This record gives sequence, C-alpha cells and structure tokens, in this order.
Amino acid sequence: AGPGLPDSFGRVATDLRVSVTDRCNLRCTYCMPAEGLDWMPRPEMLTDDELVRVVGIFTELGVRSVRLTGGEPLLRRGVVDVVRRLAALPDAPRMAMTTNGIGLDRLAAPLADAGLARVNVSLDTVDPARFAELTRRDRFHDVERGIKAAQDAGLAPVKINAVAMHDESGRDNPADLLQWCLDRGLELRFIEQMPLDAQHAWDRDRMLTSAQLHERLGERFTLTPLPDEARGSAPAELFLVDGGPATVGVIASVTAPFCAACDRVRLTADGQVRNCLFARDEGDLRTPLRDGASDEELAAVIRGTMLAKRRGHGIGEPTFRQPDRPMSSIGG
Ligand code: GTP
Ligand code: 5AD
Ligand code: SF4
Repeated sequence: AGPGLPDSFGRVATDLRVSVTDRCNLRCTYCMPAEGLDWMPRPEMLTDDELVRVVGIFTELGVRSVRLTGGEPLLRRGVVDVVRRLAALPDAPRMAMTTNGIGLDRLAAPLADAGLARVNVSLDTVDPARFAELTRRDRFHDVERGIKAAQDAGLAPVKINAVAMHDESGRDNPADLLQWCLDRGLELRFIEQMPLDAQHAWDRDRMLTSAQLHERLGERFTLTPLPDEARGSAPAELFLVDGGPATVGVIASVTAPFCAACDRVRLTADGQVRNCLFARDEGDLRTPLRDGASDEELAAVIRGTMLAKRRGHGIGEPTFRQPDRPMSSIGG
C-alpha cells in the first residue's frame, strides 16, 4: 500500500485537519448562538507537545498535508510555535490554515516564516453592516487588513470561503463578494451550508443551493465549468469567470457530495480522531496518550478509526443524524 490511511471503501486519507481550539472571536449566526458555547476545558485540550507528537504519528502513517482549523486557530496561544514545530517534523507536511482573518494582520508574516504555506480566510460578505449582523461583531475591516497581510506575506494563493446564503435584507449579493475578490486576486469559493450548527437549526429548504447561487452570479458574470480533472480530491468545482483566467469555486457538499473522493481525516483540540465531518463515533487518542501509550498503540487507534469511516455523510437520508459536536469544535 502507498502512503496514507485507508478506509474500507478504497479511499486513502492523506490530508489531516487539526482543530487547535474550539474558541472563536466571532459569533456567526449560522454557527453558534450569541452567547457562544461552553468552550472546551483547557485541561482536556492537547498540549503543544501532545499535539506535535500526534501529528508526527499521522505523518508517519502517510499524511502529507495538515490544515490548522478552529474555532478560530489564531486564538490558540503559541500557534506560531506549533506551526514551526510541525514544519520541523521528519516528513514535514505541507501546512495551511483556515481562519476568519482576525489577527492575521499581525500574525501572517510570522506564520509564513514559521513554515505555513497558505491560508483560507472565511468571509461571507463585503458589506460591513451585513458582516456585523452575520457575525455579531463589527470587524469587517480587521478581516480586510488580515487578508492584505496574508497576501503581502506570500501565503499564496489566498482563498476566501463564503457560506452561500439567502439574504433576507435584500442588500447583499454574492456577485459583490466575487467582484471584490476578483479586484484583489483572491480565489473565492462558495460553500453550501451543512447541518453542523450548534443550534441544530439547519433547514434544507432554507439553504442557498449551488444551482441557485449560479443563477445569482449569472446575472453579472459568465461562468464556464473547468474539467473535473482540475479538481482531484479538492471539494470545490471550479468555474472560469468571464472566460478566465480568474476562477470561482463552489463546494456543493449537500447537493453534490464529494465523499467518494474524500482524502480527509480530522483531529479535534481534545485529541479525538474523526473520520468524517459527520462522524458519530470518534477515536480517543487523548486517554491512551496520557496513560503512556506507545506511538504504535496510538497509530492503531488512528487506523481503526479510519476503517470505520462510512461511505458518505447521508444528508437527506432517513437515517441521517447531525453529529453532536458542532462545526466550531470539529474544524471546517
Ligand atoms: P484547499 O486545500 O485550499 O482546497 O482547502 P479546503 O477547501 O480543503 O479547506 P477549507 O478549510 O478551506 O474548507 C472549505 C470548506 O469546505 C469547509 O469550511 C467545509 O465547509 C467544506 N469542507 C471541508 N472539508 C470537508 C469535508 O471533508 N466534507 C465536506 N462535506 N465538506 C468539507
Ligand atoms: N456549513 C458549511 N460551512 C460552514 N462553515 C461554518 N459552518 C458551516 C456550515 N454549517 C464554514 C465557515 C468557514 C469554514 C471553517 O466553515 O464559514 O468558512
Ligand atoms: Fe469526507 Fe465525510 Fe466530508 Fe464526505 S462528509 S467529504 S466523507 S469528511
């Protein structure tokens, strides 16, 4: 077998997504309630030493890329040191981060210096008032500065992730966000909203589908699909904008799931392995780790968890149940 973590459907995971904290400084309405959540108690979170050791085991098992996520990963104290230590592992993985951009103005350059290659920044609107409404925090311009700093630090290409949404206010248009990204050389991807919110309020009939999004963007732009080979195991379908070279991506997780090509595995901030965003069971690494388990014993937990990975998320099927752990503690 080649490098990576096989499951029982012939897929092999080579991409590890590590949630380094479940805390966040925004309160996006589609993600969590205004008062926030009961954050993970710190003693339950992996320490830096534990985290670096565990990621090292994943890379020995053939993981080739690592993405740090949250919550908001920049809120983890010492995140730059964590990146530096992961970059120094024997089989150093390619390293990226998914962040809301707040604090990047200060941290982009040190992160790039520590070995981070790329960042994806979450941004759903470029209307500052709408941003404040959606995130319940008036911080659009902080994000804007963060994105600029990431570009200046060479964390390229900077991608922007936007959750596709209907705008009840009628003020906001996804085409405005696309134009804003085109003007700045940013790669925009829209994401269909998935049932992963802490409030369990997701409603299939209220999400904006990829088809509806195309209609809205089509009012202002001509989108031409790129061949699927351009995509590989990446979740986004890509479209040329007005003949290219710029592209826009759509991650249609709900209406066109890409589970068959999934190459991902996840680690939560409290040391649990998840084989899927929608997994119901997790593989506990923290308990054996703190009981003195060997690398080989921890690797066995990881392999076993991957063999239990299901074929797909099953959203829309009668047996579907939203996982108890919300997106903010799984990592995007
Ligand atoms: P790139 O390497 O830049 O393509 O990153 P990425 O798209 O893998 O990572 P990112 O964290 O930017 O993910 C964008 C969004 O895609 C996430 O916020 C999720 O909404 C969605 N997504 C990521 N991974 C999965 C997955 O395994 N399954 C599903 N259904 N959606 C996912
Ligand atoms: N469905 C899809 N994407 C989501 N995100 C947060 N909640 C959801 C959801 N329910 C996005 C964030 C960010 C990334 C980490 O995940 O907006 O871009
Ligand atoms: Fe992979 Fe699960 Fe996401 Fe499907 S939903 S792409 S199986 S992590």
